[in-house]
Amino acid sequence: MKIRWIEEKCIKCMLCVKDCISAVWRDIDGIPKIVAPDDCNRCSHCLAVCPQGAIEHDGLDHMQIKKTDAALINPEVYETIARGRRSVRRYKDKNIPDELIEKVINLVNHTPTASNSQNVGYLVVSDKKILRKISNAIFVFSTKIFYFTKKFPGNLIYKIIKLFPVSDTITRYIEPMQYYIDETKKGRDFILHNAPVLILVHAPKGAIFSNENCNISAGNIMNYAYSLGLGTCYIGFLNLSLKYSKKLRNLIKLPKGRMIYACIIMGYPAYKHANTASRKKPAIKWVR
Ligand SMILES: Cc1cc2nc3c(=O)[nH]c(=O)nc-3n(C[C@H](O)[C@H](O)[C@H](O)COP(=O)(O)O)c2cc1C
Repeated sequence: MKIRWIEEKCIKCMLCVKDCISAVWRDIDGIPKIVAPDDCNRCSHCLAVCPQGAIEHDGLDHMQIKKTDAALINPEVYETIARGRRSVRRYKDKNIPDELIEKVINLVNHTPTASNSQNVGYLVVSDKKILRKISNAIFVFSTKIFYFTKKFPGNLIYKIIKLFPVSDTITRYIEPMQYYIDETKKGRDFILHNAPVLILVHAPKGAIFSNENCNISAGNIMNYAYSLGLGTCYIGFLNLSLKYSKKLRNLIKLPKGRMIYACIIMGYPAYKHANTASRKKPAIKWVR
């Protein structure tokens, strides 16, 4: 990896040294020196912080590096997005142009990753048949559990589970299941909510921080999509199902060695949520 320090431009402010986490840049007798270029993790902090443009790096795309427009940073806009974004479970029967989906992915590609590994990938499923197959597989599995709770010994097991406080997560879906079944017969999709697009965020299977990298990206997908007038919903049921079902992993053609850590549906909302959310008070405990 070649990094070039342009001496004539450098004012020796040492910001490159101060901001370098990989110890590539070091202060040697008051001069910023590139000591270990091969240890560089390409985070581009040195280029971001240099006020003089005194660094060239052949491992980075200089065309992407632009001045941040500080005037555009507005906390109220961010607040409006964070408070206004809701999970969308009713979509218009309208496809999202590929370019718009790529716009979202290109932007969230700026999401941080541990050690700047940039190891997150995106599978975009927009084939209605595949989407339907995914929904059906998960829904049929859920109905089997429901019918199991209706007969011995399932009903006994269910009664015992209900005695435990954690049962809420299970009962919440089992109790209204008959309604879900009836509505599904009429065409409603309780799994992928008839969304036209599914984005599956993947990373190396079992690698340290794969989950974190994907889920931080997922948060950005949801917020940025909202700012573009798109609706999204995180589908945890699919996260779980993909973890255990090889059949589903084959269906989505998951590349070898990768695992899906976040699933998000996307589409044009059938209607708007005009009001912000109500949330429990945050559980903050100061440790001082
Ligand atoms: C990890 C996670 C898993 C979720 N799984 C599902 C899901 O499988 N199906 C669904 O409809 N919503 C799912 N949601 C959406 C939540 O139910 C939703 O975010 C929550 O009720 C708050 O509502 P809001 O997103 O509209 O503000 C999930 C959200 C998260 C963060």
